Amino acid sequence: MAESIKPWWQHGVFYQIYPRSFQDSNADGVGDIRGIIDRLPYLQALGVDAIWLSPIFPSPMADFGYDISDYTGIDRLFGSMGDFEALLDAAHAGGLKVILDLVPNHTSDQHPWFLESRRSKDNPKRDWYIWRDPTTDGGPPNNWLSEFGGSAWNYDASTAQYYYHAFLSQQPDLNWRNPAVRHAIQDVMRFWLRKGVDGFRVDVIWHLIKDAEFRDNPLNSAFQEGRPPHERLSPLHSTDQPEVHDVIAEMRRVIDEFDSRVLIGEIYLPPERLVTYYGRDLGGAQLPFNFALLSAPWNARSIEKIIHDYEGALPAGAWPNWVLGNHDRPRVASRVGHDQARVAAMLLLTLRGTPTLYYGDELGMRQVAIAPDQVRDPFEKNVPDIGVGRDGCRTPMQWDATRYAGFSTSTPWLPVAKDSVHENVVNLAADMRSILSLYKALIGLRRKLPLLQLGDYVPVTADGDLLLYRRERSGSSLTIALNLGDQPVSIASGAARLSGTILLSTFPDRARETIEGGLDLRGNEGVIIDTSGIYAG
Ligand code: NOJ
Repeated sequence: MAESIKPWWQHGVFYQIYPRSFQDSNADGVGDIRGIIDRLPYLQALGVDAIWLSPIFPSPMADFGYDISDYTGIDRLFGSMGDFEALLDAAHAGGLKVILDLVPNHTSDQHPWFLESRRSKDNPKRDWYIWRDPTTDGGPPNNWLSEFGGSAWNYDASTAQYYYHAFLSQQPDLNWRNPAVRHAIQDVMRFWLRKGVDGFRVDVIWHLIKDAEFRDNPLNSAFQEGRPPHERLSPLHSTDQPEVHDVIAEMRRVIDEFDSRVLIGEIYLPPERLVTYYGRDLGGAQLPFNFALLSAPWNARSIEKIIHDYEGALPAGAWPNWVLGNHDRPRVASRVGHDQARVAAMLLLTLRGTPTLYYGDELGMRQVAIAPDQVRDPFEKNVPDIGVGRDGCRTPMQWDATRYAGFSTSTPWLPVAKDSVHENVVNLAADMRSILSLYKALIGLRRKLPLLQLGDYVPVTADGDLLLYRRERSGSSLTIALNLGDQPVSIASGAARLSGTILLSTFPDRARETIEGGLDLRGNEGVIIDTSGIYAG
C-alpha cells in the first residue's frame, strides 16, 4: 500500500531536545546525553518517532554549542562518544530516530581551522573563512550587520583584515565558495551518518553563501523600532543567494549515499522563498523547516492564510512540515495562552506535513522570566531590553515537583519555572485532562490514522474565530474544527458537512459524541471529527 512506502520522516513526529535543559545525570546543573538515555522511555510513551538534539559537540559555549570547535567530537559537558553511541543504540532499539544539529555556516573562533586561518594571510586555511581588507578609511568592508548586534565584521589587527561573522564575533563564517570547506563538512556528515545518525537539522542553511561582490545591503524601509537592530537592513546580499542551492544539493547527495536519512534546513524566509530550498528536482533539503506558525498572529483568518499560502507554494512532490516552538522563539503557551496551547497542539498534529515539537511544549511549559543577573543568552546580552532573550524558552524540563523539577539535583544553569511544582510530567501524566494527555492522544491518533499523516489538506470556509479543514483521501475524510477564540462558536449545518463522530476534543469530555448537522464549540475548543464513518467504533 502507498502509505507504507512513505519514508519515516514523512509520517513521523519529531521532537527537539535542547540537551542542556532536558535531563542532568551528573549533578552539574547542565543536561547531558546519559540524561537523555534515562528519559527515552518517556519519549517512547509520548509516541514521537524522532529526536533532534541541539549541538552536543565540543564548544567554548559562547552560543551554547552553536559555536563548534570540533565537529566530530562530543563536549565533555554532555558526555563521551561512548555515551552518544549508547544513546544511538538505545534510541534505535526503542524505535526512535536520532537527528543531529549540523552547524556548517560558522565555527567557533577556537576551532583549529580558524586558529590557523587567522595566523597569516598566506596560511592554507586563510580562504576557509571570509577575510576582507578594510575600506580606505579603515572601516569594515561593507555595511552588513550581525544578527546578534553590531557590525558583522571583526577587525583582526595581526593581519590587518576583517573577518565576517553573521552571529557572534566568536562565530566566524566559513567560506562556502571554497570547495575544500564543502568537502570537509561533507566528511563530517559522513562521519556521523556512518555511526548511524538518521539525519541532520542544518543550522541557518540559507546563510551559507554570501554575495560574491560583498555589496552593501539596502535599508529595510519596513523596519520597526523595537525590533533587533540588524533588521534595519534587508539581507539582500548576505543570505539566500542562488548559489546556495548547489551547496545544499551536494549535502543532499551525501545524505543519499546512505539509506533513509533526512536533511532538514533551518530557514526563516517567506513561503515562496522557503520552498526553493526543496531544491531543483527536489534534490535539496527534504524538510526546509516551516516556521510560519512561530510568528503568526494567533487568529483563525491569519492561520488559514498561512496554511493556504504555504500549501499553495509547495512544489510538486515536496513534503510539508510544521513547527510550533524551538529554542530561539518564545514558548507557544506564552504566545497563544495556556488554554489556546491545546488548540495549537491539535493544529500542529492535524495539519498535513511532518510536525516538530519542542521539548516541554507538551507540558504547556511557559516562557520563564529571567532576572537580569541570570541572563545567559549572548543575543540578550548584546541586544538588551527589547525582549530578544532566548533563555526563557530554554529552562529545565519539568519532570516532577522537586526543587529542581527532577532535572537536576544541583542548581540548574537556568532557573526552573516556579509552576513546575504543579506543571510537571508526573502530575500531568496522571491527569487525563492535562495537555500532556492531549498530546499523547493526538500523537496516538496520528499514528493510528494514516489519513492524518498522509491525507490531503482541504480548507473549509469559515469565519470569525473558527478554523475548519478536512483531511481527505480515497473517499475518507476527517474534519478538524478549531476555535481560536475564547468565546463559544456554533457551526450551522450545510457547507461544512458536519455529521459524524468526534474522535478527540481538546476538552477531555467529548470523545465519541455524535454530530448531526451542526456543532457547538466552547471557547478554546478544537475537535477532530470522523466525517466519513470509517474510524468510529
Ligand atoms: C540558529 C540557532 O538556532 C541559534 O540558536 C543560533 O544562535 C544561531 N543559529 C547561530 O548559530
